[in-house]
Amino acid sequence: MSSVDWENRYQQADTPWDKGLPHPMIEIWRGLELSPGVIVVPGCGRGWDLRAWAMMFPQHRVLGIDLAASAVEDAQKNCADLPNVSVILADFFDHASWRSAAEFEGQNISLVWEHTCFCAIPPSLRESYAATVAALLEPGAMLVGVFFTDIRDDDGQGPPWNCMLPELQRLFGEHFQIESLPYDHRTFPGREGEERALSLRRLD
Ligand SMILES: C[S@@+](CC[C@H](N)C(=O)[O-])C[C@H]1O[C@@H](n2cnc3c(N)ncnc32)[C@H](O)[C@@H]1O
Repeated sequence: MSSVDWENRYQQADTPWDKGLPHPMIEIWRGLELSPGVIVVPGCGRGWDLRAWAMMFPQHRVLGIDLAASAVEDAQKNCADLPNVSVILADFFDHASWRSAAEFEGQNISLVWEHTCFCAIPPSLRESYAATVAALLEPGAMLVGVFFTDIRDDDGQGPPWNCMLPELQRLFGEHFQIESLPYDHRTFPGREGEERALSLRRLD
């Protein structure tokens, strides 16, 4: 379910979002106390962030989900040396299906990591994104990520589609408490001043 042919973008190597490295901000969540279980990464692309999470939390399983087969194949190769990483071809929104199909059925989801998936889906799917993450997480668990909140006016011509903080609050506020983080933001060259790191804690 997407307005972009993501598979075609990967096949054409037209992937300017892919920096070949994990997002530099992931590091700030090192030491986070997580309940045992699975770290889920929607729209994981070629899997660079999966590597960072898997190395920081070796006792956790890390599950990447992407609907582009070429991305999944590349992510599986890129993470082949990390036994706690799995990557599956699925639509993140179809969580009932991927949770029961994968070996993760019934397992606790400890954390969801967001990086360039939320900004890549059409704004009309944002409510579904928020509902999906709310359904996956138990109270107290967190969605953490970098969100394109401060990007220049995108004229509605995404992706990426920006989402200002009041809109994030409207979308997630019913189920999450949103916390800005007291860290200097680090990002890839070219994205300075466009994104911010947030933690969203699932409410009871
Ligand atoms: C802009 S790319 C970012 C990929 C990766 N996060 C990165 O930074 O390299 C967006 C990714 O989200 C995936 N995607 C879009 N909609 C999705 C959905 N509904 N379920 C799973 N993956 C999705 C695309 O296939 C693509 O790989």
